[in-house]
Amino acid sequence: MILVTGGTGFIGSHTSVALANAGHDFVILDNLANSQRDVLDRLAPLCGKRPAFVEGDVRDAATLDRVFAQYPIRAVIHFAALKAVGESVQKPLAYYENNITGTLRLLEAMRRAAVHTLVFSSSATVYGDPASVPIREDFPLSATNPYGWTKLMVEQILADLSKSEPQWRIARLRYFNPVGAHESGQIGEDPSGIPNNLMPYVAQVAVGQRPQLQVFGGDYPTPDGTGVRDYIHVMDLAEGHVAALDSLAREPGLLTVNLGTGLGVSVLDMVAAFEKASGRPVPYRIVDRRPGDVAACWADPALALQRLGWRTRRDLDQMCADAWRWQSNRAAWSA
Ligand code: NAD
Ligand code: WQD
Repeated sequence: MILVTGGTGFIGSHTSVALANAGHDFVILDNLANSQRDVLDRLAPLCGKRPAFVEGDVRDAATLDRVFAQYPIRAVIHFAALKAVGESVQKPLAYYENNITGTLRLLEAMRRAAVHTLVFSSSATVYGDPASVPIREDFPLSATNPYGWTKLMVEQILADLSKSEPQWRIARLRYFNPVGAHESGQIGEDPSGIPNNLMPYVAQVAVGQRPQLQVFGGDYPTPDGTGVRDYIHVMDLAEGHVAALDSLAREPGLLTVNLGTGLGVSVLDMVAAFEKASGRPVPYRIVDRRPGDVAACWADPALALQRLGWRTRRDLDQMCADAWRWQSNRAAWSA
């Protein structure tokens, strides 16, 4: 059985479906800080049964010991974290406490339970402002905000642990920009308040919930002047986790891979693709750059193919079509 921390969240819920599709049994642990319990109802038909769920915090050793005692867990996928870059600047201690203490408590509980296989959600944010693109895993690492530091610090903790206790099997997966939704339209990204990220903002403009998109910067050294990113369909990303588990089962040690498409997409490319998928206009206005943003960031995904036998299968049009189906359902449900 697999323990999925943060499994009711955006990436965790989609990975739950991918695990079920691959025949893995799993239990979700989530404190519902940034997700809703009703995700479990919507996951039930997608997973073939309602997932086992424990409401609890990864920082709570007693809860973790109880979960490891109750379920025959052999591996953990650790999504549980706070992830808003701007908020991390306002509340650094909350981010360090949740993301680092949470991971330490989890690792200690895994050791007590003799479970030594972990897949960790890292981020392309650990590359800071990359000197060139595409980004390879051996590029220099840096952070520009507390959220990024938590990812970098946990990566270091995992490297040190792997060195001192070689029986561990650890994957550090560096996600590029996860977007889209499950093709059923039943689960997706559900940010509370004003979305920080591009795709959910564009989706809310298309559905008429917000009047226009603000494009942060039109003077970057990119083909159309707007920021370029590597958007990856969340179901491709989810399947990358199943591939990582399979790889760890074959080979112990520390695995560090980018999960991305290898393609750069600008903000205006995204607007055009979303307009096409939704058949709705996405009005926009170019405003100042957002502090801390980089011009271009996309992955070299070759190592993931080599080590995991995994590559993305869904293109930008499908990312937009699936995000649109989810967004339209959300709007209908709350109407
Ligand atoms: P999310 O907020 O949707 O999911 C995270 C889940 O963890 C939420 O359901 C939340 O309630 C839960 N959680 C938070 N702290 C917890 C705690 N202490 N105990 C138990 N549960 C807790 O975020 P997501 O987009 O699904 O991200 C999942 C992981 O991937 C995170 O570690 C995030 O940092 C990482 N990541 C996300 C992105 C992205 O753009 N979405 C990119 C790179 C990396
Ligand atoms: C994408 C592009 C913006 C919103 C962030 C985190 C990163 C990772 C993923 C977790 C950029 C532009 C955006 C808007 C815009 N998260 N944009 N108008 O910044 O690449 O990455 O999420 O690990 O750590 O920093 O993603 O979706 O915010 O922005 O013009 O309203 O869209 O400037 O070029 P980003 P994003």
